[in-house]
Amino acid sequence: MAFGEKVYWDNRMAFVLAAIGSAIGLGNIWRFPYICYKYGGGAFLVAYIIALIIAGLPLLILEFSLGQKIGGSAPTSIGKVSKKFAWLGWMAIIVGFFITTYYAVIMSWAANYLVHSLSLAWGDDPRTFFYTNVLGLSDGIFKIGSPRIPLLIGLVVVWAWIILSIWKGAKTVSKVVYVTVTLPWLILLILVIGGLTLPGAFKGIAYYLTPNWSALLNPELWQAAFTQVFFSLSVGFGVMIAYASFLPPKSDIVNNAFIIGLSDAATAFVGGFAVFSALGYYAQIQGVSVAEVMKSGPELAFVTYPAIINHLPLGPLVGVLFFVMLLTLAIDSAFSLVEAVVAGVMETFGTNRTKTNIAVGILAFLIGIIYTTTAGLYWLDVVDYYMSYFALFAVAFLEAVLVGWLFDTEKLRRQINETSLVHIGRWWVISVRIIVPLAALVLLVLTIGGRIKSAYGGYPRTAELIAGWIPILFAIVLGVLLGKSTAKMLQKE
Ligand code: PFF
Repeated sequence: MAFGEKVYWDNRMAFVLAAIGSAIGLGNIWRFPYICYKYGGGAFLVAYIIALIIAGLPLLILEFSLGQKIGGSAPTSIGKVSKKFAWLGWMAIIVGFFITTYYAVIMSWAANYLVHSLSLAWGDDPRTFFYTNVLGLSDGIFKIGSPRIPLLIGLVVVWAWIILSIWKGAKTVSKVVYVTVTLPWLILLILVIGGLTLPGAFKGIAYYLTPNWSALLNPELWQAAFTQVFFSLSVGFGVMIAYASFLPPKSDIVNNAFIIGLSDAATAFVGGFAVFSALGYYAQIQGVSVAEVMKSGPELAFVTYPAIINHLPLGPLVGVLFFVMLLTLAIDSAFSLVEAVVAGVMETFGTNRTKTNIAVGILAFLIGIIYTTTAGLYWLDVVDYYMSYFALFAVAFLEAVLVGWLFDTEKLRRQINETSLVHIGRWWVISVRIIVPLAALVLLVLTIGGRIKSAYGGYPRTAELIAGWIPILFAIVLGVLLGKSTAKMLQKE
């Protein structure tokens, strides 16, 4: 096998930080607080913790054991479980690859806003600034227009940063994550402390956390909790499999998974304090309710937060801190997805690391250009939905069924326990065989059902086909083709 260039993490800490860095990303800071508020505040937290324990952590432990015990990137280790299924590993990383193509563009927005913060360039109307000046948003998904030059420049910078961060694989990542994990945490703490001292902050926090227990009876809440747990833990994209494959034999698995899962949840929870204290303050100075200033997604970071910054002492400094936080939160999620692809390609085809890094980076950059055009936000929205919901659930379902039912899970459990400080009981086997597949399948069916009824986000069906179904089909077909090469490589071993 092409393991001539195989490198390991510098130490256990480097692995833990890298995996935390992948898990903690844009999803923790906006998506979690917003969803938490939407589905009953404190009650959602309970559902989230339950989903984390019964499905998220078991799946994370499964991915770690695939990478570390069975050995290799997603295609290799899934191929070792069953050669016929090597394609599934490829599908996972191809889907992850599509995610990086737009994740990097959101980072380019943030990089642009980092510069805009210095002069508070958005002025009194951050909404118009974002949609018109920055994105130049057209009025339809097919009105594509030309790329926005500042976004394109930002994208080049972001890709250079990603490629340099994984230059020598786990060796380089081991160093980079000390900064990209601790720095955003430090900034987050500053923003939380600063936020809580603002007038009106506690109204925002009350809004975020007041529990509405009856919400626990709403199936949608459970759907949201499982979705958030899967996406946030970076499972289902081959990332955690590849990262665990850089662990030396005999490494701990269970304890690491608990540390990573809990750090991810804690970051999301604390992130909510930064977001909602600021929203509470903004609601107070505008004389409106918190609900009226509540926004999720791009609006929160690129419209609402800039509007709040306008009213803060040291506004430009807060802006710089906020966008540096976003960039450093996102970078290690972005490069983890790329590293999963690079590791997969190198193992199957024996390619050289530097060339593979650069080739994957350039390809992803070229695809990313579409999102820098004036219809970019629409395309990004559709691709994001299909990849991070649909494809993720499909992979999680197949992965758990494959290992749970075609593999000796009991033996794998014993192997995991041999090297882990905390031992896992039979509940893990039950979760992998029943709970994870069931949860993923229900989510998949609900997503498909919803999309049969109506196109996502009211976009035309053709756009949905181009940005949703075709990339998924492409990931499967290309996955099957590449899976054949992986199977051949494994045969020769
Ligand atoms: N977990 C990241 C977040 O919550 O933002 C996103 C992500 C990164 C998803 C890496 C998947 C992945 F493989």
